[in-house]
Amino acid sequence: MEYNMNKDQAGIRIDKLKKLINHHRYLYHALDRQEISSEALDSLKKELFDLEQQFPEFISPDSPTQRVEGKPLEKFSKVKHLKPMISLNDAFSREDMEDWAIRISKLLRPEEISKMDFFCEPKLDGLAIELIYRSGILETGSTRGDGLLGEDITQNLKTIEAIPLKLRDLAEVLNDLKKDGLLETAKRFSEEGKIDIAVRGEVIITKSDFEKINSGQERLGLPLYANPRNLAAGSLRQLDPKIAASRHLDSSLYEIVNDVGQKNHQEEHRILHILGFKTNNKYSRFCQNLEEIFAYQNHWQKDRQKIPYEIDGIVARVDNNDLFRKLGVAGKAPRGAIAYKFPLKQATTVVEDIKFQVGRTGAITPVASLRMVNVGGTAVAHATLHNEDEIKRLGLKIGDTVIVGRAGDVIPQVVAVLHDLRNEGARDFIMPKVCPSCGTILVKPEGEVAWRCPNTDCFSRRERYFAYFVSKNAFDIVGLGPKVLEQLLDQGLISDPADLFDLKEGDLVPLERFAERKAGKIVEAIQSKRKVLLPKFIFALGIRNVGEQTSIDLAKIFGNMDNLKKASFNDLQKINDVGPVVAKSIRDFFQNENNLKFLEKLEKSGVKIILPKAERSSQKLAGLAFVFTGEMLSLSRNEAKERVRNEGGEVSEAVSKNTSFVVVGANPGASKMAKAGKLGVKVITEEEFLRMVKN
Ligand code: IVH
Repeated sequence: MEYNMNKDQAGIRIDKLKKLINHHRYLYHALDRQEISSEALDSLKKELFDLEQQFPEFISPDSPTQRVEGKPLEKFSKVKHLKPMISLNDAFSREDMEDWAIRISKLLRPEEISKMDFFCEPKLDGLAIELIYRSGILETGSTRGDGLLGEDITQNLKTIEAIPLKLRDLAEVLNDLKKDGLLETAKRFSEEGKIDIAVRGEVIITKSDFEKINSGQERLGLPLYANPRNLAAGSLRQLDPKIAASRHLDSSLYEIVNDVGQKNHQEEHRILHILGFKTNNKYSRFCQNLEEIFAYQNHWQKDRQKIPYEIDGIVARVDNNDLFRKLGVAGKAPRGAIAYKFPLKQATTVVEDIKFQVGRTGAITPVASLRMVNVGGTAVAHATLHNEDEIKRLGLKIGDTVIVGRAGDVIPQVVAVLHDLRNEGARDFIMPKVCPSCGTILVKPEGEVAWRCPNTDCFSRRERYFAYFVSKNAFDIVGLGPKVLEQLLDQGLISDPADLFDLKEGDLVPLERFAERKAGKIVEAIQSKRKVLLPKFIFALGIRNVGEQTSIDLAKIFGNMDNLKKASFNDLQKINDVGPVVAKSIRDFFQNENNLKFLEKLEKSGVKIILPKAERSSQKLAGLAFVFTGEMLSLSRNEAKERVRNEGGEVSEAVSKNTSFVVVGANPGASKMAKAGKLGVKVITEEEFLRMVKN
């Protein structure tokens, strides 16, 4: 990505980025401490890398892009690596990968480019290690350390069963090498009469063991591990091997350091396997070109839960070792290999402005306008800041660099402000005193965090309510997007949603860009939704604090609108999850004259409330409450909820002691998982869930 900066600005920015990255790298690698997510750190590294590419005059030997991370811990004796143990550059997009291909192609001859292919494998999230075997016996095992000197953690590594203390017998190895056509390597080993080898790979832990260990930490009130790398590091960089032994650590190897006659990377993997190491061969693929690499990366991005270990992307490496060596090293990374990461659920960017949105209930929400950034695979230009207090808590100014995060399909949020990167031009935000839409003076009701526009006729509020009224969980009318609604409101054709049902094709045709067909279609779509299920009708009213599940519960208990209108404060509170606040909102709604008139008007305009089918397919899940977190593979969140309800079960958004099951998909929310752990709520996978709802 190209930045719109002059040289001076770039110099200042690069300087600040370097300092901040170095600080966090030190915390992470030397002290095993983490203050910002590794994703946010990767995002900063990427900005620095891109800026340095744009302004190469600022590349200096002390830049984090040039040096291998980490410092060895004092308490371990040091091991000098045979060759520097370096790292990899990251790519986050096809464009980054194309840039990489161009960079390396410039260094090769045409005939070399034409025979260049790639070996691709998953990038494991673990701790890098080097193992040295002499005469087939494990002699030393070490961490990366500063890349030149590692920490000797042999005793700890010896507790890991996947790491052979002794390689397979020479005769067996020679036999298998020959069978696999690895003749050069067989020849070398047989001439030597023994196997001396230095290999590298990753210490990893399965996702399920990782979760188990974190649940244990939680029970003991100990801090949780942020990721498998941290856990592996925390276990291996301990003087007492008993700790490592208790952790079910695993390993997977991907590199042979010394020359044992291997011609390409693929052969390295095969040799490692024959020697008795665990590798990730079965997940790897040989790719001829970038398109195949994209397909491979895409495949694992979708299917990453099929690998029992956490992976954060793939590694693509020029397969041929002669070419790989020729490409050499730039800074801290070989030119011939790259880590093509999965989209980050967190990324860093700049807040260019703060705007204010008026919600359906009048609540004013500050929204950050962002320099466009890719978060979790989608371009993001806005993030919610929730309310004024939140901005104060974050200490955010306009112009600041922030960490933006998103989990699943929720709205992107500003997670933290990187104050160290603040520019001189940063300015304070000012909460408006009047509604940005209608100019009414804002109020802040006691005990609430949000400023509100009290004007029920406020244009923005009405527009929002219309959008809510036609949304999927309410009347579900398609074709009435914000643009259409705005025009209809502007022209005075509608003032409340009941008016929608009186619209005629002829009303719409004169409007701008309403070609006849579109007008007819919209009217048809509205008319087809005249009949509405009671729970959807209740939801559509937009009663404060009444969401989808509460609407369903109210419909089930009261059976019709008359009963609901008459329900007392106490009646209401008998319902699951309805406390005094929700009960009061409902009472207030039905005591308001305007609302009652609106209900009458809806009835007059032909809206018919129908009841959900009394006989459900079965009531298998009656009495059970489900919470969903993360993305599921085989069905959408809404379909999953529907299934639960069809079987008589309930769905709620938050984990509580009443939750029966938390269903986890890919990338689950940390807080829901932690809460489930704390309350001892059973956590099940998508497959287990599907088995429960299957007939
Ligand atoms: S190849 C010259 N392959 O990711 C470095 N690295 O971010 C060769 N990693 O330093 C590394 N899985 O610790 C390679 N399949 C894989 C990997 C892998 C994880 C680690 C490794 C590397 C770091 C770079």
